[in-house]
Amino acid sequence: MTMSIYMKLLGSISVKNILIDLNILLDYYENARRKKYPDSIEAFDYLKYQNFAFVSSSSIDNFEFIKYATLSKAYPSLNRKQKLTIVHNFIKEFLTFFKIAKTPSYLEIDYDDIEDSQLIASAKAIDALVLTRDEKMLNKYPDMTISPKEFLKISKKQKPKIDFANLKKQHFRYYPEIEKSTDTVYNHSRFIMGPEIQELEENLCSFTKAKNAITCSSGTDALLLAMMTLDIKPGDEVITTPFTFIATAETIALLGAKPIFVDIDETTYNINPNRIEEKITSKTRGIISVSLYGQPSNLDEINAIAKKHNLFHIIDGAQSFGANYKGKAEVHHCDIYTTSFFPAKPLGCYGDGGAVLTNNDELAQKIRMLRVHGQNKRYSHKYIGLGARLDTIQAAILNVKLNHYKEDFAKRNEVAKRYTELLQNKEDIILPTIKSDRTTPWAQYSIRIKNRDEVQTKLKEAGIPTAVHYPKPLHLQECFAYLGNKEGDFPVAERISQEIMSLPMNPDLSESEIVYIAKRI
Ligand SMILES: Cc1ncc(COP(=O)(O)O)c(C=O)c1O
Repeated sequence: MTMSIYMKLLGSISVKNILIDLNILLDYYENARRKKYPDSIEAFDYLKYQNFAFVSSSSIDNFEFIKYATLSKAYPSLNRKQKLTIVHNFIKEFLTFFKIAKTPSYLEIDYDDIEDSQLIASAKAIDALVLTRDEKMLNKYPDMTISPKEFLKISKKQKPKIDFANLKKQHFRYYPEIEKSTDTVYNHSRFIMGPEIQELEENLCSFTKAKNAITCSSGTDALLLAMMTLDIKPGDEVITTPFTFIATAETIALLGAKPIFVDIDETTYNINPNRIEEKITSKTRGIISVSLYGQPSNLDEINAIAKKHNLFHIIDGAQSFGANYKGKAEVHHCDIYTTSFFPAKPLGCYGDGGAVLTNNDELAQKIRMLRVHGQNKRYSHKYIGLGARLDTIQAAILNVKLNHYKEDFAKRNEVAKRYTELLQNKEDIILPTIKSDRTTPWAQYSIRIKNRDEVQTKLKEAGIPTAVHYPKPLHLQECFAYLGNKEGDFPVAERISQEIMSLPMNPDLSESEIVYIAKRI
């Protein structure tokens, strides 16, 4: 085995895209060549149904030219229009299977073979191997090419290489649309508060039916904006869960207020409403519930308590975008809903991002000002605020992804359903419970298991990545030692943090990968 084949096997071709060379396209669309090169046909047919195959834009006009010439020779009686129609129908067909890879502007032309250097540059731009029969190219670029024979050999005996969130696959699924929308931003160059921001805010409103959506720089800043809008200040107390990402409580503390923890519910892992009232004092200003792993908390119960004690209710929906509670998005069940577009979140961008949603116009107006340094008009500052805008480029990406989010949401639910079917009735495993009056985007599919560390190690050996959300509840974190909580204060959160383990979750997990994971568990 040559070194290059070995490297490709190690790297597993499923994580690489494939750029199909012109000779393979021609093999496929010509009877004589079909018979002579069956491997090309089999590889082409296999790739038709994958999402990672591309053709270079430079191959398309060459295909037209060569195919037209061979038709002219074989069928001299056809007129020009007839020949072009045949050729164009072939092109239309392969473009329904394969996406177009651009020739990037950083192309370094090799004048010994301009076409090959274009192809290699296109492959580099999309992290692909060139599928080719061209011996010269295979020899010249051994690490960038693969023959149909080698490709078939590897794809048949490939072991699943499972990715936890598989952001790369998602990117290439939407690649043409993302390229178009980001190119638009480069062309208008309004990188801050460009038109894509308003477009996204309108899209977020129509998706959730919220009255207002204000995008911002992260889920953490969304929480800060929400609490600053509600005038949280030193001396205030804000009730929340200890079983969440640090940002929920960190932002309370950052504003000088005191996070007051309440233990979680044993089945949803969200704040237990039955334990909230005992923590309310004259200093309590509000409650932040967290929709952990995507599932909303018992919102009716929390709202009843908030109403009775005149408290605000913020939902930290960093993990739950798209979830419903009793048929409506969570923004309709609180004063302010915040979310995160961190890349690995169910709706993620390509860096940091977040949003604040509310049906209260007055709060929305203040959030908008706080997002831009408390500014009510240019260089006039009503409040002390933040520089917490979302970048236009991230909004452009999110507009594309939000447009497909219903499909992604459904696919994530399908993956969760399969995990549940395959893992139920297994001893020693507690599966997630989603209450029937709510939905979830499954930010995580987290199971509970007693010998977690051992299982994680074994799964890792089998190529299955796992994660723990979260290994230490917030009341036991060093930064919150000053609050005076101790081990044993929140026993449910403490126990679950010892047992919880998240499985790979993304809309691109295949049935065979899910079965493989479930079997190994
Ligand atoms: C529950 C929760 N809150 C807040 C955040 C913070 O979001 P971001 O990372 O976008 O600042 C996260 C992100 O991990 C989260 O999971």
